[in-house]
Amino acid sequence: MDIKVIADNIAEIEAGAIVVGVFDGTEPPGGDVAAIDSALDGAVLRLIAQGEIKGKLNEITLVHSLGRLPADRVAVVGLGKQSELSMDKIRGAVAEVCRLLRQKGCVSVATTALGVGVAGIPPETAAQAVTEGAQLGLYSFRRHITREAEHGEIREFTIVAASEAERAVLERGCIKGRIMAEATSRARDMANEPANYMTPAIMAETARELAGKYGLEINVLEQEQMKEMGMGALLGVAQGSQEPARFIILNYRCSDDGGVDIALVGKGITFDSGGISIKPSEKMEEMKGDMAGGAAVMAAMGALAQLKPGINVMAVIPATENLPGGSAIKPGDVLTAMGGKTIEIISTDAEGRLILADALSYVKNAGAKRIVDVATLTGACHVALGDFCSGAFGNSQELIDRVIAAGSKAGELIWPMPMYEQYKEQNKSDVADIKNCGSRYGGAITAAQFLAEFVGDTPWVHLDIAGTFISDKEKGYLTKGATGVPVRTLVNLVLDLAD
Ligand code: BES
Ligand code: MN
Ligand code: ZN
Repeated sequence: MDIKVIADNIAEIEAGAIVVGVFDGTEPPGGDVAAIDSALDGAVLRLIAQGEIKGKLNEITLVHSLGRLPADRVAVVGLGKQSELSMDKIRGAVAEVCRLLRQKGCVSVATTALGVGVAGIPPETAAQAVTEGAQLGLYSFRRHITREAEHGEIREFTIVAASEAERAVLERGCIKGRIMAEATSRARDMANEPANYMTPAIMAETARELAGKYGLEINVLEQEQMKEMGMGALLGVAQGSQEPARFIILNYRCSDDGGVDIALVGKGITFDSGGISIKPSEKMEEMKGDMAGGAAVMAAMGALAQLKPGINVMAVIPATENLPGGSAIKPGDVLTAMGGKTIEIISTDAEGRLILADALSYVKNAGAKRIVDVATLTGACHVALGDFCSGAFGNSQELIDRVIAAGSKAGELIWPMPMYEQYKEQNKSDVADIKNCGSRYGGAITAAQFLAEFVGDTPWVHLDIAGTFISDKEKGYLTKGATGVPVRTLVNLVLDLAD
């Protein structure tokens, strides 16, 4: 889809549809809506008076112009209460209206930067939200479907500015929105890809392509090198699979000195069967998305390479399958992680924390000043927070607050979880330094406490996205399948840290 910003009068745009917004419970709208309404001989105001258009959030009313406007249709979208408008509501409303118009066969759509100036939303931000909503709401993953889609695609999406000066401002927001949405779609693509199309080797290849495209430094370690570095926890998980593991390292450098200002670490289990502690088969197919954290981190790096913040960022993705092969690790086995800590395996299904342990040690050795890791780590986090909110754990309240704020801007909800030291008790082992899981209770926290053992006092935040990495239905700008959470949070975080 081609997205552009022009300066024009929206009532004069030729398109399959023009989209206008109305608020719930406000006076009859003026401005663009009034101009369009008069061209339509008062149809919009009449629908408002009759109560068909109420302005409720995401309510969509299609009015056919029948030649009275250059556009074929006017889509009137409800934006809810004016005082409650947010960037995320704009994203959601635009997504819903775009999907409906695509269904109706529209090929071109034009709108304004909906919500500009309302509830303190600046024009640039509104344009960004509109762009993200359109692009993310229209996302689809059809790579393996050979039959034709039931609907065509919207090919042209235009944001109309009232003046040349406004155009320049909206353009900036549109460009940023496009970079954010493209990165999110890339992460969705990777996590939606079946595990036989997204093996650790293919994930590394995908990282190489990304690095080549955007000028990131890349280094991929093979198993031999992992062995030399003592990554016994990652290699332990990998040994049950025929697919060799990969350890992917990407670097964005704004300058050669100054070291690693922040390291992003993403879980890259390309398929999690549970290993010998095998999972029930119901919904096991969803475990092709157990690399969603790694995908998010990778995709965020692509966006950062384009947005060019003034700090250095390292991304690390330990990638492997977790399968119950003949040489797989077994409950009771002891592994030695990078740095020498020994780990007793209680469940081979608690594999994420094992591969992250080595990745966290790696970025710590690389001198990372801050660390954020992202992982589909525990079903317990899903149980605790539901499916629209990720959990944040860490050792630095300041960094936790920054991550949550970055998420809030992105519309990616995050809630802080407790890290009382009492939870560590569950990870104590009689045969090794630590064991890889405790009881069912507080499982998301004990997993985070396990990770904490490998970061020392480097400021660190762990995001558990087990509940948020996929959506079981279309919902605003989320589509069914991978969500791409928390790509936009990570990008916002790095941009904020750089400021
Ligand atoms: N990848 C899973 C967690 C998961 C489950 C993510 C469902 C998304 C949806 C993780 O590797 C896992 O299996 N965790 C176990 C930990 C337990 C064995 C301590 C879990 O949550 O059951
Ligand atoms: Mn598992
Ligand atoms: Zn897993």
